[in-house]
Amino acid sequence: AIAETTRTPSADFVVVANRLPVDLEHTAEGERRWTASPGGLVSALEPFLRSRKGAWVGWPGVPDVDVDEFDDDGLVLHPVSLSSAEVRDYYEGFSNATLWPLYHDVVAPPVFDRSWWDSYVRVNRRFAEASASVAAPGATVWIQDYQLQLVPTMLRELRPDLRIGFFLHIPFPPVELFMQLPWRAEIVRGLIGADLIGFHRPGGAQNFLWLARQLVGLEPTRGAVGVRSRPGMVQVGDRTVRVGAFPISIDAAGLDTLSRSKSVVERAKQIRAELGNPKAVLLGVDRLDYTKGIDLRLQALHELLHEERLKPEDVTFVQLATPSRERVEHYQRMRGEIEQMVGRINGEFGRVGHPVVHYLHQSVNRTELAAFFSAADVMVVTPLRDGMNLVCKEYVASRADLGGALVLSEFAGAASELTSAFLVNPHDLDGVKNALAAAITLDPAEGRRRMRAMRRQVLTHDVDRWARSFLQALGAEPVD
Ligand code: ADP
Ligand code: G6P
Repeated sequence: AIAETTRTPSADFVVVANRLPVDLEHTAEGERRWTASPGGLVSALEPFLRSRKGAWVGWPGVPDVDVDEFDDDGLVLHPVSLSSAEVRDYYEGFSNATLWPLYHDVVAPPVFDRSWWDSYVRVNRRFAEASASVAAPGATVWIQDYQLQLVPTMLRELRPDLRIGFFLHIPFPPVELFMQLPWRAEIVRGLIGADLIGFHRPGGAQNFLWLARQLVGLEPTRGAVGVRSRPGMVQVGDRTVRVGAFPISIDAAGLDTLSRSKSVVERAKQIRAELGNPKAVLLGVDRLDYTKGIDLRLQALHELLHEERLKPEDVTFVQLATPSRERVEHYQRMRGEIEQMVGRINGEFGRVGHPVVHYLHQSVNRTELAAFFSAADVMVVTPLRDGMNLVCKEYVASRADLGGALVLSEFAGAASELTSAFLVNPHDLDGVKNALAAAITLDPAEGRRRMRAMRRQVLTHDVDRWARSFLQALGAEPVD
């Protein structure tokens, strides 16, 4: 459905993100192919944007390629090119080896490198220029995530006529950690070019307001920020910048319908049979990222087997892990560690034809993923820190049968919505083990009660509601 266009569009609604919703791939036969981009940002925004049209400005996912703007089923995709040096310095470097660990509670030490910063500034300017060339007069431009925190102010300087929103998809850190950043004031100044700055949690908004006072000398309001309500406000010259909390979500109804389809129900049965119909199927689904706590859940499983609290013939653990940021050192190290643990557990507890852990370093399609969710008795989501975590919401939306149980880290943004999960502190290994054991032996009636409560939350707070509440607070959409 992809057709190249030559017109210069003037879009009234523009999303700007580091990645386009599709990634360019070069096949072994030397052909070009577009595939779905990884990660929660695209999972959440794509269904929303496809339903309302508009333009999406982003990188096609490979270095050194120039792709013309094209139309993808009514959505205008406007590619921004990055050179290999920019991928190394702006994307792998400043975005993913500086900001990503810094904003995720420093679970790995962030690297501060001045040449990476220079590249971040240059690439942010390119995104601002590309956005300015796509947006119609008076358009709404919605900038996404930590890779593009300088774009709001850069874009405002180019196009004061635009309505500009910014949303951060990852946690905004405690102020003590943010203060480590050598370019902390520049980041705050970059963001305040927006009319509305959104975070998942009120705490992130509150931290940002404090920093706006300390680092830029602005005078923010002091009242507590609410969820989707009572945004904080900062006066920047003659503009009022709003700062609020908007917890993101998923296309819950879409997943609910998909999971009830005959093909998914049958595939789920088949998956269980292929696994040897064990008493309990445990599931992990993540990008292979050190913030996700994949190692912790493997360690918990290992100890439970070792202590004979679980029998290897009774449990199967499936870990689906999308390859991610494979040239960044921390990711390489963590992958090695996880694969070693998988090998150790299977070496000690597996039998021929019956490994305890099935580990796939692969991405699966939506239907297959829904079938895995439906097949899993226990979904294990144990990040050390996660802005929201959509996987746990997807699991809940896939369980119209009210089966299954969710073990969820308190340090995922979703924990404040999914209070009927087995909530765990991922640093407390005994706590994680006890939660896993309790989820595996959960009484079915109690399980249904918990799942019903979680489904009520997820089905009524979907991605459409998230986007509408943000755009209403931005003044880009009438309040209903
Ligand atoms: P993040 O954005 O940090 O990757 P989220 O949990 O918010 O974390 O979003 C991850 C998204 O990627 C979800 O939509 C999830 O279904 C998808 N995903 C993760 N791992 C896989 C996989 N192995 N195969 C297919 N989809 C995956
Ligand atoms: C998270 C981030 C996104 C990012 C995604 C995938 O969801 O918040 O901004 O796109 O991970 O990571 P990648 O580095 O592959 O784009």
